[in-house]
Amino acid sequence: PHILVLHGPNLNLLGQREPRHYGRSTLAEIDAQLTAMAGNWGWTLNSLQSNAEHQLIDAVQLAPTQGVSHIIINPAAFTHTSVALRDALSAVAIPFIEVHLSNIHAREAFRRHSYFSDIALGVIAGLGADAYFLALEAIYRRVSRPD
Ligand code: DQA
Repeated sequence: PHILVLHGPNLNLLGQREPRHYGRSTLAEIDAQLTAMAGNWGWTLNSLQSNAEHQLIDAVQLAPTQGVSHIIINPAAFTHTSVALRDALSAVAIPFIEVHLSNIHAREAFRRHSYFSDIALGVIAGLGADAYFLALEAIYRRVSRPD
């Protein structure tokens, strides 16, 4: 398996940005831990953070040519706005897990709607940075499960 982790806008500020909602872990710490987990299983993992919608879309479009098997994505504010990023994920048809650090259902009303949840394999929200690790773990369990 080859995992692509995508982080949307403002997630480069993790650690300093509204820690009440988003915790104290930095994005570098999260990415390092994800890479270590994947490496332990002999998997490869690439991550990308961008504040620009088109860069995330380009990364999704390139994913099939790079052999990406699963995507973990925190679309951040694009969760609530981006039909274009949703369409890119639909187009490539690579299974993805949507993650959020905060519980988007316990905040402002506009955060309750996601353009991604109905096409995601699953959604994890409200558990802080653990969302990313739980998502990777969930992919591991699916891949390892005999069917
Ligand atoms: C977020 C929740 C979004 O509503 C917000 O715009 C973010 C981060 C989260 O991880 O909790 O930037 O996706």
